[in-house]
Amino acid sequence: MKKTILVTGGTGFIGSHTTVELQQAGYDVVIVDNLSNSNVQVLDGIEQITGQRPAFEQVDCCNLPDMEKVFEKYPGICGIIHFAASKAVGESVEKPLLYYRNNLTSLLNLLELMPKYNVKGIIFSSSCTVYGQPTAENLPVTENSPIQKALSPYGNTKQINEEIISDYIYSGAPVKSIILRYFNPIGAHPSALIGELPNGVPMNLIPFVTQTAMGIREQLKIFGDDYDTPDGTCMRDYIYVVDLAKAHVKAMERILNDSSSEALEYFNIGTGNGVSTLEVVESFERVTGVKLNWTYAPRREGDIEKIWANPDRANNVLGWKAEAGLDETLLTAWKWQQRLREKGIQ
Ligand code: UD1
Repeated sequence: MKKTILVTGGTGFIGSHTTVELQQAGYDVVIVDNLSNSNVQVLDGIEQITGQRPAFEQVDCCNLPDMEKVFEKYPGICGIIHFAASKAVGESVEKPLLYYRNNLTSLLNLLELMPKYNVKGIIFSSSCTVYGQPTAENLPVTENSPIQKALSPYGNTKQINEEIISDYIYSGAPVKSIILRYFNPIGAHPSALIGELPNGVPMNLIPFVTQTAMGIREQLKIFGDDYDTPDGTCMRDYIYVVDLAKAHVKAMERILNDSSSEALEYFNIGTGNGVSTLEVVESFERVTGVKLNWTYAPRREGDIEKIWANPDRANNVLGWKAEAGLDETLLTAWKWQQRLREKGIQ
């Protein structure tokens, strides 16, 4: 019999790609999403790719009675992948209580319901933001690199949620957890049937690049040209969203099938390569043949200068490795942007 996984935030960017990979690996998926930052039509894209429509409940994870009804309706849920969260760094500075309420309450509700409904484990979407700016000797960052004080309420919710899970498990709760610390997820499914759909002006680099290439934005600003990096622009570890989605399937298999694994584990999910903003722009122009209108602009407040992953633990313990290169990943993002134009969305 197929196992059922609850994916919160499953109509979002990473959630939708993970749903596809779970279904293709033989799981049934129940998506819970309040649609605050996503569109229900994403389900059509998922169904077109996999031939299977995931169950969907428009529920806010912060609503405990409504969440409980989901577990009653789908008694076979054995694992949770928890994506549902607010994620805009700037907005979190303006509306900290919204971020703390939303991101903490939803996790608390899920953890509370898990033992009652015999859910074995939860995978939590964390971020490399927990490492802040690593010192030179901590680059690339391992899972044991120091956690630094968060620079925003958003980042702080990731840290606090990691601690909540840890405290809960060490209290003896009968659940397991894997915390995945993502680096910078980019790209779209190769079918261009699902992808990233930012609300309004994108804050993240890749949607801004593809929208500029499409003529939706006039000019890309590269924030800062005087950082201590080879070309002066910031460096990140850009991870293909489909590879990232596959890491969740590996993590879920480990929780469900490996009785010898620790109750709580942490994995960096990145490629291991540091790539500069300028390199992203040049690579995009090269592979798409589209000339980008870009300029240098002052540094963005709160930006980290450089960070990339040491993904050895995920490679060796999870048996997962990033496969896609930057060029092919950028092409999927461009193909998706073109598809949005065809559909008259952007
Ligand atoms: C940001 C958040 C991170 C969060 C992630 C979620 C900060 C400091 N970090 O990551 O906590 O988990 O989003 O998606 O906000 N860039 C430009 N021009 C642009 C946009 C971006 O030059 O118009 C540069 C940035 O300066 C950065 C790189 O591109 O060097 C990547 O930026 P972005 O996509 O926003 O991701 P992060 O800042 O790494």
